[in-house]
Amino acid sequence: MKQKVTVVGAGNVGATAAQRIAEKELADVALIDIIPGVPQGKSLDMMESAPVEKFDARIVGANDYDVAKGSDVVVITAGVPRKPGMSRDDLVATNEGIVADVVRKVLPGSPDAILIIVSNPLDAMCEVARRVSKLPRERVFGMAGVLDSARMRWFIADALNVSVENTHAFVLGGHGDTMVPLPRFSTVAGIPIPELLPKEKIDAIVKRTRDGGAEIVNLLKTSAWYAPASAVVEMVDAVLKDKKKILPCAAYLQGEYGMKDVYLGVPVKLGAKGLEQVVEIALTPEEKQALGKSADAVRELFRILKV
Ligand code: NAI
Ligand code: 2OP
Repeated sequence: MKQKVTVVGAGNVGATAAQRIAEKELADVALIDIIPGVPQGKSLDMMESAPVEKFDARIVGANDYDVAKGSDVVVITAGVPRKPGMSRDDLVATNEGIVADVVRKVLPGSPDAILIIVSNPLDAMCEVARRVSKLPRERVFGMAGVLDSARMRWFIADALNVSVENTHAFVLGGHGDTMVPLPRFSTVAGIPIPELLPKEKIDAIVKRTRDGGAEIVNLLKTSAWYAPASAVVEMVDAVLKDKKKILPCAAYLQGEYGMKDVYLGVPVKLGAKGLEQVVEIALTPEEKQALGKSADAVRELFRILKV
């Protein structure tokens, strides 16, 4: 394998993402965590599944960053997840220090890496990584929209009893209570869902999408990882294969959508250079207002950052 992906945080999201990246033979994987034995044990267990799963990518676990050297992509999942009753924002103080520490340690050995941030609160942690790394926005962006859209796609497929492959969904804004699912850009086999589902049903899907993270936290008493890991892997795949794929990601806006100096979920083109373009779509006044509200919520968090 020529390409290398480092996943920092060998917990639920990180370990599952590492497993899927290796199983798909997208890259060799360095899996890093602060808990002694955990990244080593998980990576050894995954490698012992390789003969059965038939993948030849290597996963190496460690507590330091030597194995991460020369990474093409670094996925940061280190941090604490939320517990029932907590919002993603409650995690700022703890995860800010962790994300800053990880960026400082991983970048010297991988100066050309693209950073994909996962730790919550997502949009604020992207800003922490951007400030600490001083990298251009092309190389620091976050995973949330792919997950939120995947959740919405599943709810649409379930409501209409159609293949998930027929569905497409569009979710903009911050990864929080103010996210903006857009039904008119959400389709089944190209048909916008307002033509297929009654308004009450769509409203329920929008609400469930917005509350999708909390729904899982309430069931599992910790946050989701299977769908988040899948979302990470789709982004890693787009970058490593230079796919020029349009995906909703947390991007540092510099005038697009009328906003500046804020991370927000918008459609972007992902390729070998990372975030290669922010794709602007025309929004209705209501959608613009909802996106503005979402940006205000993200900026509130930026104000309490210490980095
Ligand atoms: P987890 O608790 O299972 O794993 C986190 C891992 O990070 C732990 O193994 C911990 O030891 C490690 N860690 C902590 N400090 C570290 C450091 N300084 N260096 C290296 N590793 C360190 O948590 P989980 O469920 O994997 O979630 C990880 C993060 O991702 C959380 O902040 C969670 O809220 C967030 N998340 C974000 C999503 C999104 O859509 N952006 C979706 C799901 C989770
Ligand atoms: C999620 O949406 C908690 O951000 C995490 O599942």
